[in-house]
Amino acid sequence: MKKTAVVYFSKHGATAKYAGWIARETGADLFNGHDIRRKDLQDYEIIVFGGGIYGGGIQGIDFIRKGIRNVFRDKLILCFAVGISVQEEANRKQANSINFTKKMEDIPCWYLPGAYDPSAVKGLDKRLMAITRKMLENGGGSSAFGNTLKGYIDDGCDLVDQKYIRPICGAIIRAQRGEPVLGGNGSVPGPDDLEDQDAQEASSSSGGDQPEV
Ligand SMILES: Cc1cc2nc3c(=O)[nH]c(=O)nc-3n(C[C@H](O)[C@H](O)[C@H](O)COP(=O)(O)O)c2cc1C
Repeated sequence: MKKTAVVYFSKHGATAKYAGWIARETGADLFNGHDIRRKDLQDYEIIVFGGGIYGGGIQGIDFIRKGIRNVFRDKLILCFAVGISVQEEANRKQANSINFTKKMEDIPCWYLPGAYDPSAVKGLDKRLMAITRKMLENGGGSSAFGNTLKGYIDDGCDLVDQKYIRPICGAIIRAQRGEPVLGGNGSVPGPDDLEDQDAQEASSSSGGDQPEV
């Protein structure tokens, strides 16, 4: 099995929770990105990177970006990002374009639903959230998801659930065995894909054709 590290950056704990679950499920070693340097990961073949999304940016993404041409050059990198607006494909696409430069375009990223507690947010982060809330009011607030997001910002939310790690864990386990990481079309699964996966599992356990994942 290929040696695997899960490295995470988390301000409020949601990414840390997912990282812990992913490491346990895949037998990977777990690291808080603040406690290590890139060269500490020299012996690992697979690096799973995770960060919370703040103002569209993935926390700690520079850890990967700055090592991509040297320390991480011969390693397989997989990412996950945690946010409260990732249920919408347009938001996932926007996060991809903000965070993944041309030289990172081969890195797949899974988006996992996060948590938000208004009482825990202070200073600049509080101001940023107030601006986001205002933008939703003036622009996207009329869409169904815009309204949901306003509710999350006003009242808080906790969307973190262990079930969301299944697609990324499946990919990590395939990579550890030396199998291809993604399905044929190279798509990046979002939370909605879980429903497809559930349907596929149900059909294979009831004797249906084995899905090609
Ligand atoms: C100031 C601020 C900005 C945020 N911006 C985004 C965002 O752009 N997109 C998103 O999906 N979630 C956003 N969130 C929600 C966080 O990504 C979510 O709370 C996530 O769980 C944070 O991960 P962490 O708990 O590991 O730090 C924001 C939260 C805060 C406090």
